[in-house]
Parts: sequence; C-alpha cells; structure tokens
Amino acid sequence: MKNGTPEARPAVEARGVSKAFPGVIANAGVDLSVQRGEVHAVLGENGAGKSTLASILAGLYRPDDGEVLVGGEPVNFGSPRDALARGVGMVYQHFRLVERFTVAENVILGDPRQPMLLSTRRAENTVAELGRKYGLPVNPRASVEDLSVGEQQRVEIVKMLYRGADVLILDEPTAVLTPQESENLFETVRAMAAEGKSVIFISHKLSEVLAVSDRVTVMRDGRVVARAETADSDRRSLARAMVGRDVDLSVQRAEKAPGAPLLEIENLSAPGEGDAVPLTDVSLTVHAGEVVGVAGVSGNGQRTLAELAAGMRKPLSGRVLVKGLETTGRGPKATRRAGLAYVPEDRLGTGLAPSLSISENLLLTRPRPFFLKRKEMEATAREAIRQFEIRAPGPHAATRDLSGGNAQKALLARELSDGPEVIIVASPTRGLDVGATQAVREILDKRRRAGCAVLLISEDLDEVRSLSDRILVLYEGRIVHETSGEAANVEDLGLAMAGAG
Ligand SMILES: Nc1ncnc2c1ncn2[C@@H]1O[C@H](COP(=O)(O)OP(=O)(O)O)[C@@H](O)[C@H]1O
Ligand SMILES: [Mg+2]
Repeated sequence: MKNGTPEARPAVEARGVSKAFPGVIANAGVDLSVQRGEVHAVLGENGAGKSTLASILAGLYRPDDGEVLVGGEPVNFGSPRDALARGVGMVYQHFRLVERFTVAENVILGDPRQPMLLSTRRAENTVAELGRKYGLPVNPRASVEDLSVGEQQRVEIVKMLYRGADVLILDEPTAVLTPQESENLFETVRAMAAEGKSVIFISHKLSEVLAVSDRVTVMRDGRVVARAETADSDRRSLARAMVGRDVDLSVQRAEKAPGAPLLEIENLSAPGEGDAVPLTDVSLTVHAGEVVGVAGVSGNGQRTLAELAAGMRKPLSGRVLVKGLETTGRGPKATRRAGLAYVPEDRLGTGLAPSLSISENLLLTRPRPFFLKRKEMEATAREAIRQFEIRAPGPHAATRDLSGGNAQKALLARELSDGPEVIIVASPTRGLDVGATQAVREILDKRRRAGCAVLLISEDLDEVRSLSDRILVLYEGRIVHETSGEAANVEDLGLAMAGAG
C-alpha cells in the first residue's frame, strides 16, 4: 500500500470523488494519484466504477463530491475540451471519429487552435511523425471508414497526442483488439510513459494489468479497495482484491489417462454457410475425462464444426460418432439423446429465450415439458439456481434481466442438467467478469473430472490453455496445429492462429 513519493506533484489526481446515478453509487470517495511517466492501471470488474472515474477525470462528468487536481492544482472541468486544454485526454470504449473524414482531418477536427483548411497538410505530417515516435502506424490520408477497429483506436490515441495530452486515459482499450494488436498497444503505452506522459490504463484483465502497468489501483463497487506496485502484485492478489474473495483461475489438470473415446469426428468436410470458410477434412477425438480445446480466430470454421458435431447440419463427407454411435447430420434432438450437449456462443440468440423465465428456459430442451407441473419446474429451477450459483431474484425472473455471467450459468445449467457425457462449448466465458469466468470454468472442469468429454471452442488462449488437455488450432477450416495442454506455448499458438504455424 505505497503511495506516490512526495518529490513530484502527481500529473493528475482524484480526491474523494463521488458520483451517483439513479439507483447506484458509481464512485464513492475515490482517491487516485497518477505520476508523470507512469502507467497506472485501474482494475475492476464490470460495474466497478472505472469508466465513471475516467469520465470525471476527462471532464465528461462532474463529480457530485470531491475534486480533481492537475499538477497539484484543483480544476473544475466543464467539458472534455476543458480537460484537454489542461492536458488530460481520454480514448473512449466507443470511438468518436467521423467516418467519412480522413485520419488527419479527424485529428484536427474540433481543434480550437487551428482553422481546418490551413492545417490539414501540417496535420498529416504531424500524424505520421507521432505514429513513428510511438509505434502507432496510421496513414494520415486514409479515410476512417476504411480502417480496422484497431487502426481507429490508433487514430484516437494520435488525436489526443496531437492535441497535447500529457495524461492519456485508455478505457478497456484491448476489448476490440487481437492479441497481436494488444501487444503493440502495450509497447505504445510504454513508449508514451518513457516520454514522460502518464497513462491511465483501465482494464478488467489481470494479465494486461500485470504486463503493462507500474502501479495499480483496484476498484470494487465504486470504491478503491487496493493500491499496489505492479511488481509486488500477482494474479492471485489482484484477483482477490477485484472480486473480494479468493479466486483460482487455473484448473488442476487431472493426472489420470483419459478413458474411452466419447466424441469422434472423422474427416469432416462441409461448405461454409454465408461467408464462413468451408471446413476441410477435420478429424478429432475427445475421450472421457478429457478437454480438447479448439483455438482459432473466430470465423475460421468454428461454428460449422460445432454445428456439424451437434448434428445441426449435414457434412459433405465424414462422420460424427457420439459414444460410438453414428449421429452424423441426425439433427440436434437425436444427437442430444445420444448424449451430446451443445452450448453455443450466442447465448441470447440460439441459447436462451430472453423473454421466458429462468425456470421456463431450463426446461426448453427437456422432452415433453408439458407433463411437468409448475411446482416441479420451479423446484428444478431453484435447484439449478443454487447449484450453479445463478444470481437472480428467483425462478420467475426473465432471462433477459440476468447479467451476462448469470445468463451463461443458466444456459449451462440447462444444457448440463440431464447429464450429457459429451459437451461442446463455444467461448463460454466471453464477456464475463472474473468471478463468473471462474465459476463457469469450474463447472466445466467438474464435468471433466466426472468423466465427460469436453470440446472447448474458444478464441481466448488463456482459457484454452488453462482448461485443455490437448489443443488444436483451426485455421481456414483446417486443423493446422496440435499440442498437449502443458506444452502449449502462446507464441506457437498465436502463429498457428494467424496461419503461420
Ligand atoms: N450514465 C449512467 N447512467 C446510469 N448509471 C450509470 C451510468 N454510467 C454508469 N452507471 C452505473 O454506474 C456503475 C459503474 O459503472 P461504470 O463506471 O461504467 O463501471 P465500469 O467501467 O467499471 O464497468 C454501474 O452500476 C453502472 O450501471
Ligand atoms: Mg467501463
């Protein structure tokens, strides 16, 4: 619990900042102190109050109470423009660029210092220069509508630098980036700090905070619950502060040898639906008590593979066997009866019916739900809510009112309730906070230890590596790489995912 040394005035500071929205206290007496040349992470789960704090520092919101100081002087920002005039700039979670303008035009747009027409050429040069200096390659003459999301983010950062920001606030910047783009961003962040700028790096991801920051402030429920030097921190201490209890995101791998083959996929080929890539000659086997991870950038045939395995589509060639019984293209119901459950990524699309209650949703895939009495339905739902720790007002709550993590747990509860031996899950923790992620991973691991065969399809390499006994990489519809879970190395996997394996 060290605090800034008194030698230098903090670049920016929040003192006792509070902010309420109807029904929720988003910030309750928050203190934050960020030095020059420092990367300061603000870590917290969804809803912890990080964006609210950032918006107050950047002049978007006024605090109800408390004050903001820049270079030791109290300030009273009425707008983001006021904040920028004092060197504080923010890159929001949702970009604010004008699509039809060029990069350089966007950078100078709204800049009170220069008239637009005169300065476009000069801006182009400066944009290119800033890009080189901080590792933010962007073509100043490109039209923003032609840029990838990662490039647009770079434009937003360049824009803040161009306007003279000394304090940059990045709100969950990696949410829209690939792993490689995230790595590049971390380098840019370090370069900015090395130039004496301060970066406030907001994230709910432990690995990022550990990789990029000098110090970290942890928020929970609108309050600061911990402050630390990053060098003195580890995943466990940060996760515990963030969640408020012990969390163990690593799963103990079972030592015992896997059992009988429960899911066998033999030489599957199928055309891609829509603009999806075709699947070409994919074979894999998942044994009892084994998790096989399929890694890959989404859009490389994952959905086709899952749907073929779940019997929802017919392949051009190849076979699917569940517990030795051929189920190829037999339809989802027959495949389910054979013992395979499929938990799709699209939880509220193909997964849950948002307008139905939890108890109704839990019974959607059961045979003949009409024979069940209301009381039994409720009892089943209550048991699932208890067993899967679904945080909901009760079995009658509509599924659409559940948070992402709780909706996912409800979906898993439904799909796993009748004891399938083969489980296919797609991106099971995408968008979930750390607590829910841990709960979902534990559910899957428990099933594995009970002897289920689990096929885990995910873009999240941390997830694939922490759960899987074996990992396959799917690229352009083919398996291009295979490794055991222990031997898996992020670089090799990343290269294979990019088609260079
Ligand atoms: N503009 C707003 N209006 C109403 N409630 C809000 C608003 N912004 C945030 N909140 C609420 O304040 C709390 C903190 O939100 P936020 O600062 O966005 O957290 P984080 O960025 O850590 O996810 C949440 O409960 C959120 O729903
Ligand atoms: Mg936020």
